Amino acid sequence: MWKSYEDLQVLKGVSFELAEREVKVIFGPSGGGKSTLLRCINMLSPPDKGKVFLSGQNLMAPGVDLNIIRSKIGMVFQHFNLFAHLKAIDNVSLGLRRVKGLEKEEAQSKALETLKRVKMVEWADHYPAELSGGQQQRVGIARALAMEPDVLLFDEPTSALDPELIGEVLQVMLEIAKAGTTMVVVTHEMGFASAVASEMIFLDGGVIIEQGSPKNILTSPKSDRVKNFIEQIDILYGRHEELLKLPDEEGTK
Ligand SMILES: Nc1ncnc2c1ncn2[C@@H]1O[C@H](COP(=O)(O)OP(=O)(O)OP(=O)(O)O)[C@@H](O)[C@H]1O
Ligand SMILES: [Mg+2]
Repeated sequence: MWKSYEDLQVLKGVSFELAEREVKVIFGPSGGGKSTLLRCINMLSPPDKGKVFLSGQNLMAPGVDLNIIRSKIGMVFQHFNLFAHLKAIDNVSLGLRRVKGLEKEEAQSKALETLKRVKMVEWADHYPAELSGGQQQRVGIARALAMEPDVLLFDEPTSALDPELIGEVLQVMLEIAKAGTTMVVVTHEMGFASAVASEMIFLDGGVIIEQGSPKNILTSPKSDRVKNFIEQIDILYGRHEELLKLPDEEGTK
């Protein structure tokens, strides 16, 4: 797909496929087009040219209902984007009522169930301002997850968090991934990528420079651009691998 903002060509023919239950990680330098790519996938800002298919349906086709797209493609934002005037439970149940048309009681019970999955059920009656960043982001994840989307998009979900709060969010994302959720995750958390991504895509200047398995990308990148970037990731974004409890390792410790 292609996308420009006025004179600025941001995406220059980016194309990839995502299988059901697959987790793809997108990474690359600031301004490379990562957020734009996600916003094109869910039609928050549709591409100028190209096609986006979801289960065989072209989302760019005329007459496609945006509400249906939004309910099938969930989004988790860098800055959480919770409604400040709504309690955690109501942030999660709002879409269930408005978009999915559930009755209040059913929406609330579904919201509680999902808050439980992100370990936030005891905070259900709190407002965003009463929650830490990590807790707010877990509510953000619950809000997207509760809609049972076909695909969940994450745009640097931990990059606005203090380091000590990153682990709790990554852990929840890891569990969701392991449960078989189809995900596209923009992140520079390489421990997360190694643990669950089937493929990593390096996006820079609006094109895919390199893509491959985490092992290949992280240990033997083909291009110098990717190699140099990976060497800098720890300095630019920090390293939080130790915060992830990987099930395989837990068993052996
Ligand atoms: N709504 C917009 N209007 C004009 N220009 C935009 C808009 N959104 C993004 N851009 C520009 O498009 C380019 C790519 O931005 P984008 O946010 O997709 O990059 P990114 O890879 O997500 O970067 P970051 O790592 O900083 O989040 C940037 O040069 C940005 O300034
Ligand atoms: Mg971005």
